[in-house]
This record gives sequence, structure tokens and C-alpha cells, in this order.
Amino acid sequence: MDDIRIPEPAAPDATVAPGSTAASAPMALLDVDPMVPRRYVVTRVRQDTRDTFTLLLDPADCEPPLDFKAGQFTMLHAFGVGEVPISISGDPSHPAPLEHTIRNVGAVTRALVEAAPGTEIGVRGPFGTSWAVDDATGHDVVFVTGGIGLAPLRPAILDVLGNRDAYGKVLLLYGSRTPDDILYGHEMHRWADLNDVNVQMTVDNAPYGYKGKVGFVTELVARAGFDPRNGFAFVCGPEVMMRSAANSLASRGVAKDKIRLSMERSMKCGVGLCGHCQLRELFVCVDGPVLPYSQLEPLMNVREL
Ligand SMILES: Cc1cc2nc3c(=O)[nH]c(=O)nc-3n(C[C@H](O)[C@H](O)[C@H](O)COP(=O)(O)OP(=O)(O)OC[C@H]3O[C@@H](n4cnc5c(N)ncnc54)[C@H](O)[C@@H]3O)c2cc1C
Ligand code: FES
Repeated sequence: MDDIRIPEPAAPDATVAPGSTAASAPMALLDVDPMVPRRYVVTRVRQDTRDTFTLLLDPADCEPPLDFKAGQFTMLHAFGVGEVPISISGDPSHPAPLEHTIRNVGAVTRALVEAAPGTEIGVRGPFGTSWAVDDATGHDVVFVTGGIGLAPLRPAILDVLGNRDAYGKVLLLYGSRTPDDILYGHEMHRWADLNDVNVQMTVDNAPYGYKGKVGFVTELVARAGFDPRNGFAFVCGPEVMMRSAANSLASRGVAKDKIRLSMERSMKCGVGLCGHCQLRELFVCVDGPVLPYSQLEPLMNVREL
């Protein structure tokens, strides 16, 4: 078994740039216990697709809204059921209400998406590294994502669009299982129409007569029109899709340290204490979830890590 490294616990609002390790981050004095959830009230639940819902939350206390960076996640606690890591899907420049887009896959996510307005839930965080989109200033920016993976990327897309002139071409390559599973469809059309984003969508399976593209999102990477030598990519989705997309981007000439991925692992504490999220020498909750492909490539090519 690999050695277990116990990093310093991260402060609840500590952020670490992708690629550095939490152990090298300065130890902050904790004025809030990161293991104690803050109470939030569900103000609205919006159904996005058949199984995916966006929860809007307001603090139940009078404290300011949670300050977060694009790519960070929280631990959401459905009282009496359990706690799960979920990325924040809202706009970092408008932190209230707090938004999370959640796919109903099991007991805790079901309890969260079925919470009626007025229900209290617990929130810990924000935790983890951010997409740090400023690093892509002056580059062509390519977002590659599939299914619910668009939710953790949405704050990064909104960051880029908030400063659109600072970037070259902006492309969003999005794949979903079927046309009915397309997330934020209206918003993607708006980004294309108003923000000069080249949005390309594809679906894995389509009913007879469907007029859009059919195929895997990774096939779009090979043909996408941008300058790979001046390209910066942000990739989020199932691991097999991220590996294939990152390989394709790198083989087109995008530097591996300019390809960032958001990793998912089973999590319990979210602050580098329990070891549940270990990926060889990394704790995904504090060293990630966003990490550069240059660091992830050797880990992603080993099965069962
Ligand atoms: C950093 C991070 C950010 C995430 N962001 C989002 C998000 O924005 N929206 C969203 O819907 N989900 C997100 N997830 C995944 C989410 O945490 C899991 O779907 C959730 O933990 C499932 O819990 P459950 O009790 O509902 O289902 P369970 O019964 O625990 O699991 C149901 C199924 O999901 C799989 N699963 C459980 N946990 C994970 C996990 N961490 N990663 C991958 N597969 C898992 C199980 O193997 C099982 O097949 C994120 C996970 C991480 C680590
Ligand atoms: S160390 Fe506990 S979830 Fe990462």
C-alpha cells in the first residue's frame, strides 16, 4: 500500500492553485471549524433535466454569503441522511444565492434534490483548488465537458465571459447522453449569441430525425478551430472522457500544464484528514479537485488508482 501522507488541514476558505500541494500552503489559524456545517435554507429547486436539479441556497444566519472561487466544492449535508461533495455551479462574482447543480444518483443526492423550499441543509466549505482562469489570459480557451461536468465548469465560463476581451477564441465543446440530457441549453445558446463563444454540442444517442451532431465530445476536440500552441483547456466530466480529451488536446499541441481537469473521488472530510479521496500522493479534496494534466497524466493511466 502507498504511504499515507497527512497534510495540514486546510482552512475553510483556503484556496490552493492547481498543481501546488496543500502541504505547501501556509497553515491558517482556524476561526471556524471546517467540520461544522453552516445552516442554509433552500430557496428554490430548479429542474434542469430528467435527473438533474439546481438548488439555490441562502444562509440561515445573518453572516455574509460564502466567498468562493470557480472550481471549488462544498460538502452538502442532508440532515439525517448524509453528506456529499458538490461543486458550486454559480457565478463567483454573485455569490448569493449559492448554487449547486446536482444529479440524483443515490440516497444523499436524492434527499438534496427533493428538499422543498424552506428546508435547512448544511454546507461546509468552500474547499479545494480553483480553475484559476486568469492563468489563461491572452490564450484561446477551450472548455471540454460532458453531462453534469458542465456544472463545475459554469463558474469558470462565467469568469471568462466577465472579462471576455482578455481572452482569444473561446470554445465550449459539450457532450450529453441524449438531447433530453443537455444541461443549461438556453444559457449555452445565450453564450454563443451574446458572448462570442463557439459552442459545439454533440449527443451520444439521438432519436430518429435529430438534426444535431451525434458522437462523443472527444471527437470534437480533434476538429475544433483554435490555436493549440496558444491554447488553454479546462476539462470536466467522467474520467474516461477527461483522459481521452486531454490526450487529444495534448496531441494537438496544447501544453500539458495548460490542460486542467477536475477530479472526483469519494470524500468524507473534505479537508485532508480522512484519506478517503487519496490518489497516490494526492488528496483530491485539498490538492485538487482541479489539477493540471501534466501532474495527473501518470496517475490517470494507472488503473484502480
Ligand atoms: C469534488 C467533487 C465535486 C462534485 N461535484 C458534483 C456536482 O457538481 N454535481 C453532482 O451531481 N455531483 C458531483 N459530485 C459527485 C457527487 O459527490 C456524488 O454523486 C455523490 O457523492 C453521490 O452520493 P449519493 O449518496 O447520492 O449516492 P451513492 O449511493 O453514494 O452513489 C451513487 C453512485 O454514484 C457513485 N459515486 C458516489 N460518489 C462518487 C464520487 N465522489 N465520484 C464519482 N462517483 C461517485 C457511486 O459509485 C454510485 O455508483 C462531485 C464529487 C466530487 C468529489
Ligand atoms: S482527506 Fe478526507 S476527503 Fe480528502
